[in-house]
Amino acid sequence: MTGNDRIIRVFRDAVESEMLSGVSEIYGQARKAGHGGRQGKDPEEGVKRLEKSVKACVKCGLAATRKNVVFGEGSYGADLMFVGEAPGGDEDEQGRPFVGRAGKLLTKIIEALGLEREDVFIANILKCRPPGNRNPAPGEIDLCTPYLLRQIELIKPRVIVALGKFAAQTLLQSDTPISRLRGNFHDYHGVKLMPTYHPAYLLRNPGGKKDVWNDMKAVAKELGIRIPEQKKK
Ligand code: URA
Repeated sequence: MTGNDRIIRVFRDAVESEMLSGVSEIYGQARKAGHGGRQGKDPEEGVKRLEKSVKACVKCGLAATRKNVVFGEGSYGADLMFVGEAPGGDEDEQGRPFVGRAGKLLTKIIEALGLEREDVFIANILKCRPPGNRNPAPGEIDLCTPYLLRQIELIKPRVIVALGKFAAQTLLQSDTPISRLRGNFHDYHGVKLMPTYHPAYLLRNPGGKKDVWNDMKAVAKELGIRIPEQKKK
């Protein structure tokens, strides 16, 4: 690396961390001031720029073991955003969120609402796979969460569904169990956030599907989505 390259890199990192740090504070203030609404929602350029910097991220050790960064995918104008925990093996291979077994179940849930994956935005707390699918480490969450906050700030969903304990507890800064957080909307910087069980949990505990469906019906009502007739029960 030449001296010039190093200066450019240091400058770029400084701008990036300035842009990302305190984003939730900025976000909260913008919402409170009434500037966080849907008017002027043109996030494409910002999301693309963010994706580029996330894909180059080497802030934590997961950069050394990942095959692909899983930035997230879907509509940049989505009213509904799903947030999971971290990519697993299939997601790491493909660089796409929720494409394995749990992902297939999430896709079914989205379709049961009468939507397609392309209508919503799907992201994770961590953008890189923890080796062996271990739980995200607190330091990894701290370093990666600003990327998610920026995604939320740019996409401005009206409702966020937090899938599972890690997503719900991280976003709500809470250690309340998911079984108690789910079922009600929480305020997330002016955005309605519905915690619900993670699809991977549902694969192991199909009895939880009824609760998740009730949570999704509340989300549909909030967004004015008409659930297709055969899925209503
Ligand atoms: N589980 C998650 O939390 N996220 C994915 O992308 C896949 C599985």
